[in-house]
Amino acid sequence: MIVAIDGPAGAGKSTVARLLAERLGFGYLDTGAMYRALTWLALREGLPLGDAEPLGELARRSPVTFDDVGRVSIAGVDVTAAIRHSRIDRMVPVVARHHPVREVMRERQRELAGRGNIVIEGRDIGTVVAPNAEVKIYLKADQEIRTQRRQAERPDIGEDALATDLRSRDKSDKERMQPAPDAQQIDTSHLQVEDVVEQIERLVRARLVPSP
Ligand code: CDP
Repeated sequence: MIVAIDGPAGAGKSTVARLLAERLGFGYLDTGAMYRALTWLALREGLPLGDAEPLGELARRSPVTFDDVGRVSIAGVDVTAAIRHSRIDRMVPVVARHHPVREVMRERQRELAGRGNIVIEGRDIGTVVAPNAEVKIYLKADQEIRTQRRQAERPDIGEDALATDLRSRDKSDKERMQPAPDAQQIDTSHLQVEDVVEQIERLVRARLVPSP
């Protein structure tokens, strides 16, 4: 079974998706981490971020890998911490908008999704990567609350800079990615992580076929 969790930055996707996967005993795939890792590598290689084809080629020859505990690597380097820096936050949408890049990433994501029960988080999972996902969730939250949550994860950055970054990322992501029409939307602004996870867990369990 595929559980697709989409939504903007700070809506709670990662925390919820990780916990949910753990509770269900499902695999977990963070597609944002794949775009982030590629962005990190492109910056290291000094590739111009506006050039679609070379970035697509870089993606094809440098697959992103995840180990058992969720550490992220690309080109033989563990980039788990590096991809959460604000420079990467700002640059990811520039890289992620290129079609050749998305093609490679989506192909890999579908491959990984085909291996069994999995929770996949991203922005285009319920619409493009896995439109047949049995459970589709779109998490959202007020912008102010999303900024506050992000602030807790990026204590080194001022609130104004974070809010500006979130707004510009929302804008460029939204132009390309919308919630799936059949996704269940959950506003997490005033909900605890536990409550959101439980709500989704109930939906998933209701759809799981009981074993004979
Ligand atoms: O955690 P946060 O929402 O900040 O970001 P993320 O899920 O790690 O994704 C980072 C960026 O990658 C997003 O702002 C999108 O530009 C891009 N992305 C995408 O285009 N498609 C996806 N399936 C996932 C992420």
